[in-house]
Amino acid sequence: MNSAIETLAPYAFTALRQRKEALQAQGIELLDFGVGDPQDPTPAFIRQALTAALTPESRYPTSAGLPELRQAIAGWFGRRFGVTLDPDVHVLPANGSKEALFNLGLALLDDPRRGPQAVGVPELAYQVYADSARLHHAEVIPLPLDTDWLPDLNALTPDVLGRLRLLWLNYPNNPTGAVAPPSYYREVLALAERWDFYVASDEAYSELWYDSPPPSLLQTGLERAIVINTLSKRSNMTAYRSGLIAGDAQVLATLRNVRPRMGVATPEFIQQAARAAWEDEAHVTAQRLRYAERRQLFIEVLARKELVVDASAATFYLWVRVPERVAGRSSREFAEWLLERGIVVLPGEFLGARGAGHVRLALVPPLETCQRAVEILDSVL
Ligand SMILES: Cc1ncc(COP(=O)(O)O)c(C=O)c1O
Repeated sequence: MNSAIETLAPYAFTALRQRKEALQAQGIELLDFGVGDPQDPTPAFIRQALTAALTPESRYPTSAGLPELRQAIAGWFGRRFGVTLDPDVHVLPANGSKEALFNLGLALLDDPRRGPQAVGVPELAYQVYADSARLHHAEVIPLPLDTDWLPDLNALTPDVLGRLRLLWLNYPNNPTGAVAPPSYYREVLALAERWDFYVASDEAYSELWYDSPPPSLLQTGLERAIVINTLSKRSNMTAYRSGLIAGDAQVLATLRNVRPRMGVATPEFIQQAARAAWEDEAHVTAQRLRYAERRQLFIEVLARKELVVDASAATFYLWVRVPERVAGRSSREFAEWLLERGIVVLPGEFLGARGAGHVRLALVPPLETCQRAVEILDSVL
């Protein structure tokens, strides 16, 4: 067996699922705000684009994807961020963003000529970045977060910077909902240029915002920048497995070379649905309004009960501070206390020690479930 697999932390969501199942087996009804899997329907026009693209014969798709999908993605980057991408040079489709996040390591790490490689991973982060680094035999450097929930670049010593091959960012952020300003992206890319590393920006939540649209790393530059995005959250398409990789021409060329060997080509009917989704903004605007309505309900009750919501300027997550008066100090204890009252949340410490003072609520259930949860919170907090 691959000994690197033994070094991986337990998968956070397995523990949560087991605890939920145990309570449900006792007949307890749970309102589930634990997992960030959108529950609203995939818009009908996207489903229709998929069925219209089903052909009687079935042929292998290519991992480079249909030119019209790459064009649709480049068009979206142009309209949304004012970034000009060549669809044949700067863009590749992915089978959802998770495989792209994981497999980026194949292009950048494990290079027998370079010796030990280090990957910078924020101390509180989606688990895939560190897992991928470890399975590509790289050293994981945990990046401490500053008070704005951004990796503190001043904490990077010359020794670390000298070994760094890749640095991960994820804004808007899961779990905190924090957003990175353009100045931060400029600072990181300048550092990458100076110390010869790449910056990968997971922008899965870029379209789920409330007051103003968050920036993309690619607005700062394409060189050394790799952006990964997805239709999962923007268009309620988690089951479709459709995302994108965009940015640095050399990295994309390497991925174009290696990905056909890996079995990650997206079926063409999914690609046609994806094309329809990237070309439409109306459904995304409507979805944002749904999340805003749910968010308002929670913000009101939490404020009334004097619970502090940190960051949470974007994404469908609320990052709620553990109230000491209720259930001790740890996010695990508070999550358990809420679970016993029928509300599932994710303990922040499942995503890293820095999350120990917070729980994460994913506002994905329908409005009426949110209303019931808010009533419960109103009575128990
Ligand atoms: C930060 C972040 N990136 C990526 C993903 C994966 O999304 P996809 O469905 O595109 O694989 C998730 C899923 O929850 C996520 O939270």
